[in-house]
Amino acid sequence: MTSGDLGGFVHRYQPPAVQNGPTLLLLHGTGGNEDDLLPLAGMLAPTSGVLSPRGKVLERGMPRFFRRLAEGVFDLEDLKRRTIELADFIGAAADRYGFDRSRVIAVGFSNGANIAASLLLLRPGVLAGAVLIRAMVPLVPEPLPSLASTRVLLSSGRRDPLVAAVETERLATLLRKAGADVTLVWQPGGHELTREDVDGARSWLETVHLLD
Ligand code: MLT
Repeated sequence: MTSGDLGGFVHRYQPPAVQNGPTLLLLHGTGGNEDDLLPLAGMLAPTSGVLSPRGKVLERGMPRFFRRLAEGVFDLEDLKRRTIELADFIGAAADRYGFDRSRVIAVGFSNGANIAASLLLLRPGVLAGAVLIRAMVPLVPEPLPSLASTRVLLSSGRRDPLVAAVETERLATLLRKAGADVTLVWQPGGHELTREDVDGARSWLETVHLLD
């Protein structure tokens, strides 16, 4: 595992076990860091590459990927700017490390899932697929991008106090309208990441053949 700083993103990188294998882009939740989701990557796809940046925004000392004005209320200008910055980081990392940029799959939790959704909507083509755990609608772009052949898993909590079910449904509808192949799975729990999320994401990744 390599540690580095690229475009101001402190990050970890590990190459895929096979050349041109897929790379998981790990995006942590509020208050997390580049190490948080490494065990999750090991459980989901142990032979995939890993690119795991730390969010650059600090909210009372807690790293995030973009600013928010209040819980669930996003600073949209900052979100757009940070989304483009993250897309540029992925491109710069592909140049530096030589991974296949057409095989990047985001695995995001909470704030990380929200910026991954924003990346899908504002920079289509950067992600081949995404596992979004406890995601909200980050923004609604005009016009909608074309996300045909992009596969997305929404793993959402039935009793999530931060993300209402209708918000999850709105995100699924938005992504589908853009042409994405969306699977929505309801987990019994709340906002926290659970064993069911891990098992569900692993079997979804097998079903959609993103790791083959
Ligand atoms: C966000 O700001 O992206 C959401 O409120 C999730 C979170 O708390 O990080």
